[in-house]
Amino acid sequence: MTSWTIFIFGMSGDLAKRQIIPALYALFQIRKKTGHIFTIIGAGHDASTVEAIIDSSKPFIEKIDEQTLSDFVDACSYYHVDFDNPQNFADFVKHIMMQKDALSDNRLAYMAVPADYFCSLTKALTAAHVLERGNTQHHIVYEKPFGWDRNSAQEINGCIAHVIDQNQIYRIDHYLTKGLVSNIILMRFSNIIFEPVWNHSHIDHVEIILDESIGIEGRGSYYDRYGALKDVVQNHMLQMLALIAMEEPKSIDEKDIEEKKVEVLKQVKIKEVVLGQYEGYQKEPAVNPQSTTETFVACKLTIDLPRWLNVPFYLRTGKNLNQKLTAIIITFKEMKSCFIKTADQCAPNVLTITMSPDEGFRLLLNAKKPYSADEVTTAAMDFCYSCLFGPETPQAYVTLLQSIFAGDHSVSVSSQEIDYQWSIIDAIKAHSFPILPYKKNSQGPAAAIKLLSQKDHV
Ligand code: BG6
Repeated sequence: MTSWTIFIFGMSGDLAKRQIIPALYALFQIRKKTGHIFTIIGAGHDASTVEAIIDSSKPFIEKIDEQTLSDFVDACSYYHVDFDNPQNFADFVKHIMMQKDALSDNRLAYMAVPADYFCSLTKALTAAHVLERGNTQHHIVYEKPFGWDRNSAQEINGCIAHVIDQNQIYRIDHYLTKGLVSNIILMRFSNIIFEPVWNHSHIDHVEIILDESIGIEGRGSYYDRYGALKDVVQNHMLQMLALIAMEEPKSIDEKDIEEKKVEVLKQVKIKEVVLGQYEGYQKEPAVNPQSTTETFVACKLTIDLPRWLNVPFYLRTGKNLNQKLTAIIITFKEMKSCFIKTADQCAPNVLTITMSPDEGFRLLLNAKKPYSADEVTTAAMDFCYSCLFGPETPQAYVTLLQSIFAGDHSVSVSSQEIDYQWSIIDAIKAHSFPILPYKKNSQGPAAAIKLLSQKDHV
């Protein structure tokens, strides 16, 4: 058994409630199988208790077993700490270190707090030796968004680099642990049928979609400061774009993959952008009544690399849309002839990689309708993840924590990637595009529907 002390900074916050605590509970349930046992020391801004915090997480925990839950509660402690007050945080750290014999050699500090606190908390933890620089059993995890623009991310990176080594740091993006996202590299580079056609000669356009039917779900103060561009485009969507567009890495080593992703992110060019805000957003709790924060983004990008000459990449995301869909859709060029009398052209081949709601991929092909001389039909070749491996594909945060326990940095994004990702967002922000209203349960603003239906060349 390997024992861990896990610190959660921001334990009373929304991310801990919805993702981190449920994932830790899932791992606690299978601790005998995985061999990782842990105690959790949480700290947060709210005057709360472990019982109340875990109770608020219950709706997000799968398969609750009352005895296990009670053991899990016993393994957790919680401290009310004011992260804005350095003395208060120093006192908390001192208190922890007074009981240092109770801490495990393996330590993981999870920063589930806004990036404003990353530098000061990291410095305080390392100064007090809760985390020691160079100790490969001590790890620190930073949630996304890492910073709020390019400058802030550079400052935070500079600050933490002074006190902790890069191999102890995880700047995480939970999308990198999703089964189908982590499958993109393997699918592209280990199937000979894809790589030869993965370029501008054969691909017409690419769509990356992260549509959400949910709204901001009580996260007003966070969301109103960040908006869709910084909440999901800067990280999840640009990571998906980089994985789809990158050249073949030398190996599956994360450094080689990172190098290829950076080559793509450096060359992204912004062509068109539509921003939107759902009606009623300004009345959400903790949102500025005059807010101009975008809850919807549609944009057309290109990548200035020979492989992607003139191929448009369309990105779309939004809250309160008419569907929950996370997918990458690759539409190939149409063939010149259909070889059938009644049709001049057959439909293009389309490869769809779906992350949500059902993980899988689907390739559309043209085929002749059986027993018909002149009818074409679209045949779909489907790979349904849950049909093959069962519905129990692990939640992204469970995989994330397991990867960190195993010292696997593939779930982490490098400072260089983050730098280029922010450059793209800063450039969009600098344009001050108008914020168009859209109705809840719709496809977003009309201008976005028009942009996404163009599918023209650049
Ligand atoms: C998070 C964002 O990073 O990703 C949320 O902060 C968003 O606003 C979520 O809802 C989407 O992730 P998933 O895994 O539900 O697709």
